[in-house]
Amino acid sequence: MTDEERRSLLVSVMGASAFLPEPDPRIPDGVPMGAGYVPGVPRLGVPALLMTDASLGITNPGYRPGDTATALPASLATGASFNPALARAAGELLGREARARGFNVLLGGGANLTRDPRNGRNFEYLSEDPLLTGVLAAEAIAGTQAMGVISTIKHYSLNCNETNRHWLDAVIDPDAHRESDLLAFQIAIERAQPGSVMGGYNKVNGEYACGSPTLLGGVLKGAWEYPGWVMSDWGATPRWEYALAGLDQESGAQIDVTLWGGEPFGAPLAAALASGELPRERLADMVRRILRSIYAVGADAWGPAPDVDMDRHAGVALETARQGIVLLKNDGVLPLALADGATVAVIGGYAHLGVPSGTGSSAVTPPAGHAGTIGIGGPGIMGAARNLFLLPSSPVDELRRLLPGATVEFDPGMSPAESAALARRADVAIVFGIRIEGEGFDLHDLALPWGQDAVIEAVAEANPNTVVVLENGSPVALPWHDRVRAIVEAWYPGQAGGQAIAEIVCGAVNPSGRLPLTFPADLAQTPRPELPGLGRPWGEPVTIRYDEGADAGYRWYARTGAAPRYAFGHGLSYTTFEHRDLAVEGGETITAAFTVTNTGTRAGADVPQLYLTEAAGERRLRLLGFERVELAPGESRRVTVTADPRLLARFDGGAGRWQLAGGTYRVALGRSAADLGPEAGAELGTRTFGR
Ligand code: BGC
Repeated sequence: MTDEERRSLLVSVMGASAFLPEPDPRIPDGVPMGAGYVPGVPRLGVPALLMTDASLGITNPGYRPGDTATALPASLATGASFNPALARAAGELLGREARARGFNVLLGGGANLTRDPRNGRNFEYLSEDPLLTGVLAAEAIAGTQAMGVISTIKHYSLNCNETNRHWLDAVIDPDAHRESDLLAFQIAIERAQPGSVMGGYNKVNGEYACGSPTLLGGVLKGAWEYPGWVMSDWGATPRWEYALAGLDQESGAQIDVTLWGGEPFGAPLAAALASGELPRERLADMVRRILRSIYAVGADAWGPAPDVDMDRHAGVALETARQGIVLLKNDGVLPLALADGATVAVIGGYAHLGVPSGTGSSAVTPPAGHAGTIGIGGPGIMGAARNLFLLPSSPVDELRRLLPGATVEFDPGMSPAESAALARRADVAIVFGIRIEGEGFDLHDLALPWGQDAVIEAVAEANPNTVVVLENGSPVALPWHDRVRAIVEAWYPGQAGGQAIAEIVCGAVNPSGRLPLTFPADLAQTPRPELPGLGRPWGEPVTIRYDEGADAGYRWYARTGAAPRYAFGHGLSYTTFEHRDLAVEGGETITAAFTVTNTGTRAGADVPQLYLTEAAGERRLRLLGFERVELAPGESRRVTVTADPRLLARFDGGAGRWQLAGGTYRVALGRSAADLGPEAGAELGTRTFGR
């Protein structure tokens, strides 16, 4: 390979889209465009890299006029399913749909922890827990790579808020980082070996993630011996020297020009090579890592494209919504049992048209197109991409289909008085509360926007049978909680969302989702009641201290004793389950076995969760394992969970190893992190292991 050929592999350029309307002259005509293009080396049979977003479907913010793709629910719905098989199916779907379009790199695999309920991108992530996130991300990555498409895991690491993300310094205790966000990445990477890792925009402890010797050379390529390549996020390479720290590829180079005034892995990198400042060995390593992943995943040796059965893919989107929707509260009103001729008032949320999605680079145009798009706008480069997108699966239409004996009437939810008037003469009122969240914007509070709380209050006042359905991507404040009879958390439910919501409300599907993140009672009880830098002008540096360390999410509430509104792992069913006969063995790690029984009258799925409660004399709450178990009425199943010993240990940065203190380890079987049932303990010996 000539040096020029080598260097050509190190820069990706973006296609023309809503984000960047001008086409880049380096992209040849006829190339299927997405977020990134890297020329190949045809002389040597090295394919060009064609990159597309992302985890919720093959995105198209104008790259490929007219092209649409399966639009999956928010990743939080996959998280809420606690179902690795669904994550795998989604990964395969993404791989197939990417490959059918000629894309060989998927920028999917969002694996940041949802540490902050205000993070605008929580919907693109799986959960607040390292095990759940790592396991599900691994399945998605493996599914994609099984299709011969390289999968990326992102945004490495601690890109847990969007506030001024290019200037954000995320501060955390390094050992706590290893036990939390980095553990999620480690679990996913070792299980699924993604071909590439995308560095985040932010700094971690003062070093930009894409130029961090600590995170790249030290942890990822050093301790974990990661053999693939590290690409930057789009516009996250200000300087060529990031190559010395471990960055292998500059991405979205045009954005680097806009933000930092140049393309550092272009001429500056060539000059550094010529002057010897960039060692030749490092250049060879950068190139070798990219080539290695191409060959390891088989992106160079594509046979005929796998079949894309869009009906089957629609089924995956539907099933993810069904299993991901969480029934938060139900005092018996659900599933609806209506007399013939009953009136159902459906209010708000554009429920006559469809369901909303999150915004930013992950937004997908579904097969039937959008049922509506409203530009919301806002400051910074992501303002242009901030839209209220409605996917055409109308809850109103679906409820009418499932309730043929009822009259389903719709009110837009614009005015509390008008909505109350319809609710008053209905037998049941279903109010939709939506919130548009997305890339580039953190939430300023947990409230529903646009006066929706006042509409819900008025409807609940007018009708004692009020059900609230939430469509959003982060925890929501529920000021009307005690005045409504049921609350359904539907997240952004994807292209079949309206159907899944209607099926759950009407009882055709028994809800089985469990919260993958805590719903706090209010911001005061979260680790950061105030989010530094919120609302400050674009470009202003900000420092966010993640002083909760490894105690993200439910672990924080266990530590502080605060009672959240709804705990991690919580979710109701239309049947009941019993957990019993917990037996625990020690030794090198904890192995627990227990029996789950469906004690109710209808089939349903339970998600028993095994938590560590005490580690060698220290109170410590950690999810050690889980299993989604489908059971017929009266049916029982024995489940065995073996804990990853890292979840029982502490990371010792000085030694660079995991340290397990010998002693008694106690575990409990939970319905959520705050509802623990049977407990047992076992002895573990002191040991040092892993890296
Ligand atoms: C996002 C990435 C995405 C990339 C390419 C960035 O703004 O942070 O998640 O993959 O754009 O579209």
